[in-house]
Amino acid sequence: MLNPGGDDDDGSSDTSSMLTELEPDEFPGHFREHAGRLFHSHGDLPYPLPVDGAEQARLNAQHKILRELLGSLCVAPVDEILTQESNRQKRVLDLCTGTGQWLMDMASRFANVRFSGVDIVPIMTRHPSDNARFEILDVTQPLRWSDGVMDFVHARNVSLAVPNYPEMLHEAARVLRRGGIFFSGEVGRYVAFAPGYPGNPAVDAPGATRFYRVINDLLGRVGLHEVTRSVPRWLQATGAFVDGRIQEHVIPIGEWHTSAREKRLGRAYLDTMITFAESLKPFLREKGGLNEREIADLVRGYERDMRTVRGMVGVYHTVWMTKA
Ligand SMILES: C[S@@+](CC[C@H](N)C(=O)[O-])C[C@H]1O[C@@H](n2cnc3c(N)ncnc32)[C@H](O)[C@@H]1O
Repeated sequence: MLNPGGDDDDGSSDTSSMLTELEPDEFPGHFREHAGRLFHSHGDLPYPLPVDGAEQARLNAQHKILRELLGSLCVAPVDEILTQESNRQKRVLDLCTGTGQWLMDMASRFANVRFSGVDIVPIMTRHPSDNARFEILDVTQPLRWSDGVMDFVHARNVSLAVPNYPEMLHEAARVLRRGGIFFSGEVGRYVAFAPGYPGNPAVDAPGATRFYRVINDLLGRVGLHEVTRSVPRWLQATGAFVDGRIQEHVIPIGEWHTSAREKRLGRAYLDTMITFAESLKPFLREKGGLNEREIADLVRGYERDMRTVRGMVGVYHTVWMTKA
């Protein structure tokens, strides 16, 4: 069902069209099949990964890993910001929600808060809880909400979805109320080592280093840059935010860690990293212009390093700031 612009009670503006509820026969219109995988069908948008079952499983696994790693659903002070107030219901917006796992976990934890999750493909649950709602919405367009209606805007792993991050930040700042919080969480697309392990990526993990160099170059050509170190600077540059916190959280890759918990996390994270490389193959072929042999070489070198080099970690960069 196409609903151009307005939503019933959302404090919405009419700046974009949205699909509020999808009929079963509308689903195929959101997907495109290519190389045996299912992609979004929104022509000009650069998101390079499939959105099919394998990718949804990767997103759900990554959600569980981050939840366990952090020991919470978010490192921003959500308990404080989402405390119930008698005169109004608090609101949360999740940009590029994917399968919506984070949003659903949050919605069950904060039953009095109203949650909205947006994405360009309907891969989220069709049966959310009463306080949660999912919509098809392109975050590269002006958001449909009025100024100052949100208490918390959450953007996790959106760097492959958003070519103009600063523009998205301006929209996030606009829909946040004073004292509301913007959160960004992004896994770095580079090789890193835990303290005490070999530390020269080009020498110690040449296959993984080459993989990241090649994919960052090709992704950069379609505007999808590695943003982890830029987001705090961009947030400050909006002039709309104050305070906050910048952190780096380290996730082991593989089973090299001595602690049983880290070993288990590392094993699960390795699986998601291998799936990520598989999922990127159609992009490398179609947009990157690499041939089958080049792709196989590139991914083989990356996988070998991921599986065998001790001390490799992923770095999850988080930053949150308060709307002034
Ligand atoms: C890597 S996933 C992250 C999903 C979720 N935030 C998480 O952490 O599990 C990125 C998501 O962005 C969505 N996406 C891509 N381009 C988008 C756009 N222009 N507007 C809204 N969502 C978009 C994709 O469909 C995908 O579900």
